[in-house]
Amino acid sequence: MERILISGGTLISASDTRLADVLVSGETVEAVFRPGSAEALVAAEGSQVVDATGCYVVPGGVDVHVHLQLEMTPEATSSDTFATGTAAAAWGGTTTVIDFAGQQAGTHVRDAVDTRLAEAQGQCAIDYGFHLAMGDVNETSLKEMGTLVDEGITSFKYFMAYPGAWYSDDGKLLRAMFRAADIGAMVMMHAENGIAIDVLRDMAVERGNTDPVWHGRTRPTRLEGEAVHRAAALASVAAAPLYIVHLSSADALEQVTWARNRGQNVFAETCPQYLYLTIEDHLDQPGLDGLRHICSPPLRSKGDHATLWEGLRQDELAVVSTDHCPFCDNEKLIGADDFRQTPNGLGSIEHRMDLIHQGVVAGELELTRWVETCSTTPAKLFGLYPQKGVIAAGSDADIVIYDPNKSHTLSAATHHMNIDNSAWENTQVTGQVRTVMSRGSFVIKDNEFVGSAGHGKYLKRGLSDLLK
Ligand code: URP
Ligand code: ZN
Ligand code: ZN
Repeated sequence: MERILISGGTLISASDTRLADVLVSGETVEAVFRPGSAEALVAAEGSQVVDATGCYVVPGGVDVHVHLQLEMTPEATSSDTFATGTAAAAWGGTTTVIDFAGQQAGTHVRDAVDTRLAEAQGQCAIDYGFHLAMGDVNETSLKEMGTLVDEGITSFKYFMAYPGAWYSDDGKLLRAMFRAADIGAMVMMHAENGIAIDVLRDMAVERGNTDPVWHGRTRPTRLEGEAVHRAAALASVAAAPLYIVHLSSADALEQVTWARNRGQNVFAETCPQYLYLTIEDHLDQPGLDGLRHICSPPLRSKGDHATLWEGLRQDELAVVSTDHCPFCDNEKLIGADDFRQTPNGLGSIEHRMDLIHQGVVAGELELTRWVETCSTTPAKLFGLYPQKGVIAAGSDADIVIYDPNKSHTLSAATHHMNIDNSAWENTQVTGQVRTVMSRGSFVIKDNEFVGSAGHGKYLKRGLSDLLK
């Protein structure tokens, strides 16, 4: 079996930072050595040595919230395919993604899962798994949750937003939570009060307020905080674990902290857009510039950013994912005359590791916390640890060699995501991926893509590792 030695780098884990060499054998990590101590062994075999001097060596990123080729409406499908999106993820140092199989009202969970498995099969450059997004909580779908857990789909997303589409009322949510608690599955929640939001949206449009900024103004943080509180209260009644997706505001984080202080298994992720982009500077722009920044929950204000960084430092926010859901300009323009028609989402799958590393550069986070929030904890929470999320003997050799000093500018002209715009246009970051390995195979080598669609395997996930 071919061995590769990654030598001279600084190994960053969720708990410490040290000089170390990493020996990869086939698809897994064989051992981690003191610097220099494995060179003789490898030289004797004529194995490959990869010089990581001056670079960080980190476990491949785990992005647990992405939407590749998601048909959001008949007119709008997220523009990254499984092939382009997973390649772009690798460019940015992510080696595992978890997408969603979506069961819409009136359809079967089984069909939703089989469709997504078929779409992804043979397309992905890195390993991938699925959550189930349930849009129709009924006796059959609740029963099928058990079958899915056996198949490695161990987390289920429900929606307090999007009435008439994905929304579930409190009764349905409670039933789903009792079922999840029974089978040990994770409940993921899109926590925004969709019923109240729809009233605000309609009132705004009736007044003639159709510009993109009204997308944000009609989804106030109070209605996110209220939904998080209600979700946590329901989860406590059902004794179910709860994971709040794409948390965007201080109001919402306060409710996560409230539940955690009560001893509940409540976790939350945020996304780079909620740490850097604002309603004032990005969403409140006329036309396409504003439309490009429409996502749900919406962009918030600078004060929220500061609170979310603090939440990441204190582990009140456990994970950074992307909620990658890119749309090209022609699809964003569907909402040109009415923000409500705009497909929601923006693209970040390639930039997450850089943008959170930028938080390290800016003094917001420790290096170890970068690795913990972007790789280790998501792997633990979603049943992938220690196969993913760590560089240790026996783990998959998903390894990123990261140059912390290389500066670059994010732009649609240079990114590898299949979108003709960038919510991150002209953002400067320090730190860039140099080389990426997925299960011992190079995907990016010295800033060149050498991977292949089809290398990525479907991951059957276990239950969460972090439940009390
Ligand atoms: O705007 C967003 N977040 N689009 C993706 C769908 C979702 O609710 O996660
Ligand atoms: Zn959502
Ligand atoms: Zn999403």
